[in-house]
Amino acid sequence: MGNAVTILPFDDTFDVEPEESILKAVLRQGRYVKYGCKHGGCSTCRAHVVDGDYRLGESTSFALSDADRDAGVVLLCSTFADSGDLVVDVSKTMDDLTEEQYLAGHHVQEFTATVDRVDLLTHDIRWLGLRLNDESAMSFVAGQYVEVAVPDAPDQWRSFSMANPSMESGRVDLIVKLLPEGRFSTALDQRLKVGDQLQLRGPLGQFGVQLSHRPMVMIAGGSGMAPILAMLRDLAATGNRREVTFLYGARTARDLFLVEVLQDLARQNEWLTFIPALSEPNGDPAWNGETGLITEVLARHLPSTTGWEAYLCGPPLMIDAAVEVLTTSGCKDRHIHFDRFVPSG
Ligand SMILES: Cc1cc2nc3c(=O)[nH]c(=O)nc-3n(C[C@H](O)[C@H](O)[C@H](O)COP(=O)(O)OP(=O)(O)OC[C@H]3O[C@@H](n4cnc5c(N)ncnc54)[C@H](O)[C@@H]3O)c2cc1C
Ligand code: FES
Repeated sequence: MGNAVTILPFDDTFDVEPEESILKAVLRQGRYVKYGCKHGGCSTCRAHVVDGDYRLGESTSFALSDADRDAGVVLLCSTFADSGDLVVDVSKTMDDLTEEQYLAGHHVQEFTATVDRVDLLTHDIRWLGLRLNDESAMSFVAGQYVEVAVPDAPDQWRSFSMANPSMESGRVDLIVKLLPEGRFSTALDQRLKVGDQLQLRGPLGQFGVQLSHRPMVMIAGGSGMAPILAMLRDLAATGNRREVTFLYGARTARDLFLVEVLQDLARQNEWLTFIPALSEPNGDPAWNGETGLITEVLARHLPSTTGWEAYLCGPPLMIDAAVEVLTTSGCKDRHIHFDRFVPSG
């Protein structure tokens, strides 16, 4: 039998199944609370537990500090009612969420798309181009992601961020890292070809450029390039004037991709500085760029980040290390935005 959950300040009570996260139950109920990755990677769905017993899912370990836990803060996407009923308050963590927005719910559309591009970017990263069928369009914000159904396993969905600018609403371009046992990425590597059909749903997530006057530092590693590329292309298309420094970290020269595309973008837009860096240059004589961990490069180029806004995307460890360097050098927590690329299977 399920338990009941009450969402404050809206005083709305409904059932939650034992293995269902609170976020899933809220969405199933046709309600809406703020969320992003749905996998404990972005901290958007923070809330306070006011009453009742709960379990935290594994993914919470990425995103909640000990102080958060002591204060009863949870991530709704990885919190489960344990026994009895649960009362959860979103008024402090989502203070601009109105009752109208909460009651209106969140509607995610499904699309069928045709593969029109599969390109090798590096030995383990692919560009996957998808054209939405039937002239359908998906209106999204650069930084958001879609869920893609695994071919031959339609109940399995994986999250990938759009790399194309938001004005291209009739297509979705993804940058996908191949994982050794990954179900979707192995299918992409071995079987997917131009003309194949895929199911998508979205757009999802809250990652994206915030309106402000602050200079921005963007930091990415691996396929974390995807949403940053979309954001930079959108900024270029909309006549941005804010200063942007984009630091991209790769291990060796063979892990770098789209460097010329980004260098061109920086040449055409004087507000953009692009700095690729190798953490393991291995004495490569052809490499005369930055070297070291991306956090070291960050500290060298921006010793003070007071007054800056930061956008980070890629592996959780890189993000955690970058957040520490940013906060130590003056960037305010509330100006640091990120999407951790945690497993979404
Ligand atoms: C909001 C969001 C946006 C994302 N956007 C992107 C994106 O744009 N591009 C992208 O490539 N990924 C992105 N990811 C991550 C991606 O969704 C997951 O990595 C996904 O699980 C990959 O699916 P898969 O079927 O290939 O692998 P799965 O079948 O899901 O298998 C993943 C398995 O690989 C393991 N694993 C994870 N990382 C590694 C590693 N480095 N080496 C070895 N094993 C590993 C995991 O433990 C897991 O068991 C995003 C994730 C989130 C939450
Ligand atoms: S939606 Fe819960 S942490 Fe991202």
